[in-house]
Amino acid sequence: MAHLIEIRDMYKIYAIGDEPVHALDGVSLTVDDGEFVAIMGSSGSGKSTMLNILGCLDVPTKGSYLLDGIEVARRTPTELAHIRNRKLGFVFQNFNLLPRTSALENVELPDLYRGRLNVRERRRRAMELLARVGLRGRERHTPAQLSGGQQQRVAIARALMNNPPVVFADEPTGNLDTKSSIEIMNLFTELSNEGITIVMVTHEDDIAAYAKRHVVMRDGRVMRDDRGEGGRKTTEQVSQLVKEALA
Ligand SMILES: Nc1ncnc2c1ncn2[C@@H]1O[C@H](COP(=O)(O)OP(=O)(O)OP(=O)(O)O)[C@@H](O)[C@H]1O
Ligand SMILES: [Mg+2]
Repeated sequence: MAHLIEIRDMYKIYAIGDEPVHALDGVSLTVDDGEFVAIMGSSGSGKSTMLNILGCLDVPTKGSYLLDGIEVARRTPTELAHIRNRKLGFVFQNFNLLPRTSALENVELPDLYRGRLNVRERRRRAMELLARVGLRGRERHTPAQLSGGQQQRVAIARALMNNPPVVFADEPTGNLDTKSSIEIMNLFTELSNEGITIVMVTHEDDIAAYAKRHVVMRDGRVMRDDRGEGGRKTTEQVSQLVKEALA
């Protein structure tokens, strides 16, 4: 069966200064429909670079990327924007909501670009999504009027607006307290149980423990890819796995 995500021998080389930086140094990885993957590794190991390429926010220097069977490694920015809008959802550490814009309008945005729904349908879907992430009654609040955890829930609702098969998250709990982090991870778990594929970058073992598969990177390479055959891992098991991978 074809993989949802398939990257082969991928490089991302930054030529700034005298020494080129190999942010990705020959990475191959496949992700199947419905997986919940955590990408881990120390600072500078290439996690965000990888996620940005997987999410069609950036292109590799070299290598192939098949997304849903389509080669996307060498597309124009306009083509990538089109693919992102239809197939991918994003959740970032800093929420990336439009300021001075209501939660409702932030959630509507992906369909405003796409234009699949009419005004009433769009509003209804955005209302439903906000209710589903626990923000009923907060629709008219702007990001500044919401807590960090609430802003991240708006971002998740926005990510779901166009029904993407995959959601990418880069340190989604990086700016949140423990309680909000757990709420956000429970939400991701629900989405995963509904069959949405999730690829999440985190360097926190307890957050990574929510994922079913663990990919550990170092110096732009995959050091370990643990598909979690033995069921859900504890935080301690994740710590151990990362320690072994980087030993
Ligand atoms: N736009 C860029 N220009 C030049 N070098 C870059 C650029 N983006 C990333 N790098 C370099 O590529 C390497 C990988 O960076 P990346 O941001 O992917 O790491 P990361 O694993 O996400 O780290 P962190 O945990 O700190 O977020 C680093 O050495 C970084 O300095
Ligand atoms: Mg990063």
